[in-house]
Amino acid sequence: MNWSSVSQTLSVVGCRDKMLLSLQLLLLLTLTIRTDGYYFYTRYECSSSSSDLTDAEYIETYHFNKDPFLRFNSTVGEYVGYTELGVKNAERWNKGSDVQQARGELERYCKNNLPMLFSNILEKTVKPRIKLVAEQQASGGHPAMLMCSAYDFYPPVIDVYWLRNGEKVTSDVTATEEMADGDWYYQIHSHLEYTPTSGEKISCVVEHASSKEPIIIEWDGFLPESERNKIAIGASGLVLGIILSAAGFLYYKKKSSGRILVPS
Ligand SMILES: *[C@@H]1O[C@H](CO)[C@@H](O)[C@H](O)[C@H]1NC(C)=O
Repeated sequence: MNWSSVSQTLSVVGCRDKMLLSLQLLLLLTLTIRTDGYYFYTRYECSSSSSDLTDAEYIETYHFNKDPFLRFNSTVGEYVGYTELGVKNAERWNKGSDVQQARGELERYCKNNLPMLFSNILEKTVKPRIKLVAEQQASGGHPAMLMCSAYDFYPPVIDVYWLRNGEKVTSDVTATEEMADGDWYYQIHSHLEYTPTSGEKISCVVEHASSKEPIIIEWDGFLPESERNKIAIGASGLVLGIILSAAGFLYYKKKSSGRILVPS
């Protein structure tokens, strides 16, 4: 029998509604008995939903092929078996020093490692950049398509949703998954198919660990951004034109009135 691999993985699990971050440290010790089939492994797991570790748990699970057959759960405090083999071993281990050692793992292993992972990974957050645009204007009976995008955020757990007059919109919404940019940052896009009605207030809401309050972007009109840019450029040109004409006019006035004052 050989220890075939020792791997350490970190998984981040998010509870979308409460924006809680939970963290698991998995240390997988895998032991391959035969190359053609049987697979035995033990998973040592620490989990906690917050960095104060008040609900931290240590779980040790023994698997044969895909089936867990024996588990130690620090909240329970002893080994519990799920199969005949598991039950027998649980009985034996609960009498000896194995269970004493397992009971110490929450303090020794979890409470020393979890804070490091929270402060170095989970609590590092980067706020998303949010853009709300009309991809398509409403015309000829076709609804408008609004797109709310969040860019360059970390960690990937995020909630993007729409409000119509303060109520959460549940239909006509399609969203992508959180997509990895490949540089630790993520992006996500949510589309709302929407028939404009006057007096209606539409907003896109983003909830993310980087912000204690939900980030709310209100939809301010029916023009897509490219159109708005054209109007902005046009308006700037107009203002600049007015300023220059006014300056020219004042200059002309000053010159001509100055000429009158000087006797010839
Ligand atoms: C550990 O035991 C507690 C108490 O029975 C339970 O609430 C919790 O879900 C268990 N954890 C796991 C991972 O099974």
